[in-house]
Amino acid sequence: MAEYRWNQSELAAGYDAGATLVHPHYLEVQDAILAEMGQERVTVGLIVDLGGGSGRLIERVLEKFPDTTAIIIDQSQAFLDLAAYRLERFSDRVSFACRRLQDDWGDVITEPATAIVSMSAIHHLDLEEKRQCYQLCFNALRPGGVLLNGDEVRPVSDADYREQVERWAAHMQELIDAQAVTPAMADALRGWRERNVEQFGQPRVSGDDCHETAATQLAYFESAGLRETGVAWQRELWTVLKGRRPV
Ligand SMILES: C[S@@+](CC[C@H](N)C(=O)[O-])C[C@H]1O[C@@H](n2cnc3c(N)ncnc32)[C@H](O)[C@@H]1O
Repeated sequence: MAEYRWNQSELAAGYDAGATLVHPHYLEVQDAILAEMGQERVTVGLIVDLGGGSGRLIERVLEKFPDTTAIIIDQSQAFLDLAAYRLERFSDRVSFACRRLQDDWGDVITEPATAIVSMSAIHHLDLEEKRQCYQLCFNALRPGGVLLNGDEVRPVSDADYREQVERWAAHMQELIDAQAVTPAMADALRGWRERNVEQFGQPRVSGDDCHETAATQLAYFESAGLRETGVAWQRELWTVLKGRRPV
């Protein structure tokens, strides 16, 4: 079986180097998550990042909220090695778990979490895996704790969805043509285009880009037990979904 693309160290390094170029709203999504954490007063205690990759979001969380600790859960040791390097100065406040989000990762949570954040990761889970993952989030949150998922979320209409994936693919092509990303990242972007533009409308399997609508995912938030659910921020293909575990 082919190795999951995210486990290749060249791709992990290429993504880390190119994230803010490739993702047109990378820092805005992070800004929205950090702003929500402040507004929702979840700025003290344990913050968990699902699919936290090379630690870019948790770095900003730990900098901005000094009374937090963090756990990054990610299935890629290559990404976690980059995260450990990036977060060396926070080594007493952060730990790492190499786990798949579709498995039961609840045992790595050392205390009820104040917030669970995630960015550009949960869309790799298929629909049933997302449902299970959101249930694990509910279980891991303390009463009053908040889930914030800043992810690729498809619009309801196929025409709008197609337009958005084509627009992003064109942006990716410009970066490839300008040699602004590493060769491994360029290969990954070509793969993204193939799956999302050339094979638009074809069935997706776990590990692909399993884009779902906000409504579908918020219904799963609700069935997991989360309340005050909604869209905290939205632009093109990117949305921050939020929900709170009731007190
Ligand atoms: C696009 S990168 C995003 C990384 C980071 N969240 C960021 O925004 O910079 C996707 C990340 O999700 C992780 N990932 C993908 N599928 C996963 C799964 N099934 N379980 C855990 N992590 C997964 C990858 O290893 C990778 O670190």
